[in-house]
Amino acid sequence: MHEWERIPREAARSLARLLPRVEQAFAAAGGNAADWVAFEQRLRREWPRLFELLLGLYGSQYDFFYHLEQLLIAMAQSWSERPLWLKQRDAVREADSEWFQSERMMGGVLYVDRFCGTLNRLREFIPYFNELGLTYLHLMPLFAAPEGNNDGGYAVSSYREVNPQIGTTAELAALAQELDRAGISLVLDFVFNHTSDEHEWARRAQAGDPDYQEFYFLFPDRTMPDAYERTLREIFPTVRRGSFTWRPDMQRWVWTTFNSFQWDLNYANPAVFRAMAAEMLFLANLGVAVLRLDAVPFIWKRLGTNCENQPEAHQIIQAFNAIARVAAPALLFKSEAIVHPDDVLSYISPHECQLSYNPLLMALLWESLATREVKLLAHSLSHRFRLPAGCAWINYLRSHDDIGWTFDDNDARAVGIDPWGHRQFLNAFYTGRFTGSFARGLPFQENPDTGDARVSGTLASLAGLEQALGSGDPQMIDTAIRRIVLLHSVILSIGGIPLLYLGDEVGTVNDYSYVTDPSKAVDSRWVHRPTRNQAGMDHRHDPATASGRIFGELVRLIRLRASLPALRDGAMDVVRSDNRHVLAYVRRAGSQRVLVLANFSEYPQPIAGNLLRMYGPGVELFDVVAERAISANEVLVLQPYQFVWLTPVW
Ligand code: GLC
Ligand code: GLC
Repeated sequence: MHEWERIPREAARSLARLLPRVEQAFAAAGGNAADWVAFEQRLRREWPRLFELLLGLYGSQYDFFYHLEQLLIAMAQSWSERPLWLKQRDAVREADSEWFQSERMMGGVLYVDRFCGTLNRLREFIPYFNELGLTYLHLMPLFAAPEGNNDGGYAVSSYREVNPQIGTTAELAALAQELDRAGISLVLDFVFNHTSDEHEWARRAQAGDPDYQEFYFLFPDRTMPDAYERTLREIFPTVRRGSFTWRPDMQRWVWTTFNSFQWDLNYANPAVFRAMAAEMLFLANLGVAVLRLDAVPFIWKRLGTNCENQPEAHQIIQAFNAIARVAAPALLFKSEAIVHPDDVLSYISPHECQLSYNPLLMALLWESLATREVKLLAHSLSHRFRLPAGCAWINYLRSHDDIGWTFDDNDARAVGIDPWGHRQFLNAFYTGRFTGSFARGLPFQENPDTGDARVSGTLASLAGLEQALGSGDPQMIDTAIRRIVLLHSVILSIGGIPLLYLGDEVGTVNDYSYVTDPSKAVDSRWVHRPTRNQAGMDHRHDPATASGRIFGELVRLIRLRASLPALRDGAMDVVRSDNRHVLAYVRRAGSQRVLVLANFSEYPQPIAGNLLRMYGPGVELFDVVAERAISANEVLVLQPYQFVWLTPVW
């Protein structure tokens, strides 16, 4: 019998054996009959692929069947405990599986502690989020974490306990529901590549419990670490060289891809997979609509490789996806893979991560802003933007992390750019070392061995507002604001979910005070994680201030986007502009079309009428941004950093 015949038969046989036991456990735990029917139906639908994935990952373990049974019982219980409002949301979103492709989708991200202190206080800002048009709110890691340096919460000590300084888990669940009522879906991180060294599992490992030692990668001497390090990339080279940390208390080397207190989990162990699946379902039942899967490339290790983007990493995420479909059907995954564009794409599918950060667009928008030319951006997008149906990009301009110059070297060469030299230039430009640069960024993780570096800085500081405000020159301030609005106009119109880092909407500049805090001083990313910019928010309706101008323009664009059905979903074609400073693309949904043109230079740029006739949705056009009629029979002159969204004249 062939493999493709054998596996479905094995799957069916296993399910037939398992179901009665799972149903029994479900009933014993007080589950009701209607819930069981719904659960069984979805399980039968997802089972063939879940079984095949788990068989591939763990089938050779002698206790495979035991793990399957325990997993199914945990899934069934989680479903029966799922709050009613979430079951209702499951039904609504299952019936409208493209809900997140709407032109009304708008994301925001913030650190609760830095924005307003506590979960309770955050509720007071819901009207502000509504004013901005947010429908998606990512709260940065807020669970229990070690005191002092905890990598901004990415070292999680418990996935079930909110950091007591921020609030309680009950408050988080209540907030999720309150946000939902305000039309905002809650997004939280699923930091599943590693735990902190203070997590219960790590503590037990430290105490010598062999079951928990198998949760991590522990080595008695340098033999294996040396063997792995021959092919590993260093992620935080200025923090610590290599990817392993010596623990004198255990007399062991521990695998720590990131900081020394972040211990990588060993997913080759089915107990780890099962334990993290339970944490995932716990988060789902709190009311999380989207889980941001942190550091996905790193979750599977294979000797002789860079231990990034291994096939098993995909299988693990797909298995989590299948589990979610059964036990928390509305839950979506967002991939955080900040790697080569081909690898970023490999995580995106309805069966893996439906959403993904778009680091390529992010990096190349900054690249275009620095060079005033769009050739690399246009070329890269022309063949790297399209996603499978049912998936969407999260388009952002900066995050809580650094900006790395991710683009494909061959894409660069194809447009006459030397990739290595260009990355050096971009680092110099954005750290202000390049003469004439408008940017005020800081280097992050400069690696003396490889010459690599990344950049930290807020959107406003990188786009020139900090320098301009310092100079007091109204012309420079105006130019910086235009750059900021231009960048946003692209993520608002190009297709996918735009994501705003809260603070950027009022032009928040760098906060250099992190250097006085010893737990942050070594990590320049804190320069762009400032506390709430209350002054900026207070001035948001005052067009005489930079904050007011930026806020006013953004809110106007966000509302405009929400009124244009052509901007839903992700169909986008890059088209010729015949002007190297102008990015041009066509958005369409159904019969609706919008032609977007964006000038990345500080000089006026002409666009020939024949291009407008060729790509525009008609001859008589209307720029909905400037509210101005445009004739495709004439040359269109774009002002410095101007962009137009051209629709037919109705
Ligand atoms: C992700 C986070 C980053 C963190 C790392 C380790 O990349 O975005 O902030 O340092 O994972 O968790
Ligand atoms: C690296 C990793 C990325 C992480 C970042 C943190 O770029 O690939 O996952 O977010 O480092 O700085």
